[in-house]
Amino acid sequence: MGPHGARAWRPGGGRLTDLRLRGIAKRFGAATILDGLSLDVGAGEVLALLGPSGSGKTTLLRIVAGFERADAGEIHLGADRIDPLPPERRGFGMVFQHYALFPHLSVGENVAFGLETRRLPRAEVAGRVAAALARVDLAGFERRKVAEISGGQQQRVAVARALAPEPRVLLLDEPLSNLDPALRERTRRELAATLGAVGITTLLVTHEQEEAFELGARVALLNRGHLEQVAPPAELYRAPATRFVAGFVGRASFVPVEVLAVGGGRARVRGEVPGGELELAAATGVAPGAAAEAMFRPEQLALLPEGAAEAVAGEVAGARFAGATTLVRVATRGGELEVATDGDAPAPGTGVRVGLRRGAAPRLFPAGGDA
Ligand SMILES: Nc1ncnc2c1ncn2[C@@H]1O[C@H](COP(=O)(O)OP(=O)(O)OP(=O)(O)O)[C@@H](O)[C@H]1O
Ligand SMILES: [Mg+2]
Repeated sequence: MGPHGARAWRPGGGRLTDLRLRGIAKRFGAATILDGLSLDVGAGEVLALLGPSGSGKTTLLRIVAGFERADAGEIHLGADRIDPLPPERRGFGMVFQHYALFPHLSVGENVAFGLETRRLPRAEVAGRVAAALARVDLAGFERRKVAEISGGQQQRVAVARALAPEPRVLLLDEPLSNLDPALRERTRRELAATLGAVGITTLLVTHEQEEAFELGARVALLNRGHLEQVAPPAELYRAPATRFVAGFVGRASFVPVEVLAVGGGRARVRGEVPGGELELAAATGVAPGAAAEAMFRPEQLALLPEGAAEAVAGEVAGARFAGATTLVRVATRGGELEVATDGDAPAPGTGVRVGLRRGAAPRLFPAGGDA
């Protein structure tokens, strides 16, 4: 397997295993932290668990690892039910939110640390350390001091330490949180390549959308202890299931509208939207007469020439240069719209008209969602 000389890598003895969570519930005192949550991670899949701070991500990961007991629910790993087992018998490798390598030990000693309790022969330990380092592209780094390698390399040593006992599943809690922003993006790319090469079933926790999108084949979005949506990144962005998903993933403007008709997953609405009336894809829970909000991504909108009919009138409130585009905030009677433009932003106070770009597919959500 793989291009590295060390020795064939067989996570969990060569079987790729799927991880299934069923009805996981957890309360701390009166507070419901996890609300009967179910989630599948496919064999060999990297699934990113994304959610705001305090949504319950670390709690869920600790329950899966066995450091915390759930009040209800089951955890299955392949054919085995594992939630009654102690952590050391669950077959997980874990990288914690603050992964804390031992600075006074060498790279090799750090990786071996996860193996010591198993009383393996010295040669076996050396072989496993070499194999784990090879998997994260650090072959031959055994004798280097932790303090003398880069932050990104340290992060990979932490992954190698988790891989050394040949776990069936890798659990990563904010594995990049220790790094400064400049290093973070490069290390994210390296970690994506590492996880791709290792090919082990992985549940990765992060509160950063970009991280989840780059590392996860699918993303599970957690909000106050329940899953809002589990989908590949592009689907989460283009077809958010709830208003919370729409607002958390990417940039979005919301406009209150009147719902005229609903049918076949679509709705016709009236309000301060381009053209005054619009037909768009509707989320579940939208009904005629009930309050609803249309959602627009900045790139779905455009500044149109004066007098354009299919547009909503407004006034430039401000702008933010964002590299490839400029994001212009336009105040309309329905609220503020954020519009992406290739050109320069008109000066604040300028009257403008905002229209829909060709092919744009805005969406409709019930108002007052859990945002
Ligand atoms: N041992 C505990 N006792 C009481 N409350 C707890 C305990 N551990 C966590 N909580 C609470 O549970 C909620 C979820 O915490 P958790 O650490 O799982 O969040 P998180 O999603 O990992 O957040 P972050 O992104 O900040 O790491 C928080 O409100 C937290 O205060
Ligand atoms: Mg956490």
